[in-house]
Amino acid sequence: MVNLSVGIGKLKLKNPVMAASGTWGFEYGELADIDRLGAVVLKTITLKKRVGNPPPRIYETASGMLNSIGLENGGLDDMIENKLPKLDGAGTRVIVSIAGDTKDDFKKLAARLSKCRRVDALELNLSCPNVVHGVDEGLFAHSEKAVYGIVKAVREATPLTVITKLSPNVTDVKIFAAAAEAGGSDAIALCNTFIGMAIDAETMRPRLGNIIGGLSGPAIKPLSLRAVWEAAKAVDIPIVGIGGIMGWRDAVEFMLSGAAAVQVGTANFVDPRSPAEIVRGLEKYLSKHKIGDVRKLVGAIKLG
Ligand SMILES: Cc1cc2nc3c(=O)[nH]c(=O)nc-3n(C[C@H](O)[C@H](O)[C@H](O)COP(=O)(O)O)c2cc1C
Repeated sequence: MVNLSVGIGKLKLKNPVMAASGTWGFEYGELADIDRLGAVVLKTITLKKRVGNPPPRIYETASGMLNSIGLENGGLDDMIENKLPKLDGAGTRVIVSIAGDTKDDFKKLAARLSKCRRVDALELNLSCPNVVHGVDEGLFAHSEKAVYGIVKAVREATPLTVITKLSPNVTDVKIFAAAAEAGGSDAIALCNTFIGMAIDAETMRPRLGNIIGGLSGPAIKPLSLRAVWEAAKAVDIPIVGIGGIMGWRDAVEFMLSGAAAVQVGTANFVDPRSPAEIVRGLEKYLSKHKIGDVRKLVGAIKLG
């Protein structure tokens, strides 16, 4: 028997594989075997409904995809009244991803969601590249002070496990991971998408309505892996690895680099059953290598 369960703060997961925010939807319900997963992270919500960015909002690139959704969502009330009840019987942990324009927004979201029985943890999306808010019209995750301040405010507002999702679009990810840890975050999630753009040579126009967007998928895997590796050495709290995880091998590599758990995003657009397949593959890999506990993989990269 192989132990697949892991702990992220107070949150106990039956395995380390989660569906990443914005890439798993309720419409996948019948296709995706979410009961097999450690957790699902729901699409980021804001206090009030948001319409998002102008179309086109998705463009396929070499080994990846660009998106500029812009946090379209139905708001907090819609989450509580319409979305969470749909997950009532689900045999997986539910993590709600939140974003706000101010520290106060984050506090309000955290406080209300903490009263919802079906919410097991919160993920702070400080890093969506498709919206500008907060610090000098930039991202919260691009200011060490803002990361610390928001995490601290949320920490005071909720007893739930808090995962802080950071931006890779910074010079030194370690500084931001340390700021989130100092603010009281239980874990760090790395990475959100990398800022990119695409142009159509024929029309001479940008491929995305928003001109720039976030790059995800296999193209970003080596970049994310490096970010996880750096962050894992800089902080004592667990890292959740994200970026181009398409199969179980990718998940193993992220864990070897220091991730305590992983999230699967773009792979869901190829096949919504991918995260469940990754759980199965991980279990087989551990058996084959006679590793009795998945936690033994964390940071177990062999150097020298
Ligand atoms: C279409 C799309 C929508 C996304 N929406 C969100 C979101 O609402 N909140 C968030 O934190 N991340 C969002 N992400 C980022 C993913 O959760 C993930 O961090 C990123 O795509 C990298 O992982 P991947 O390469 O496995 O996709 C989105 C990604 C895509 C492709």
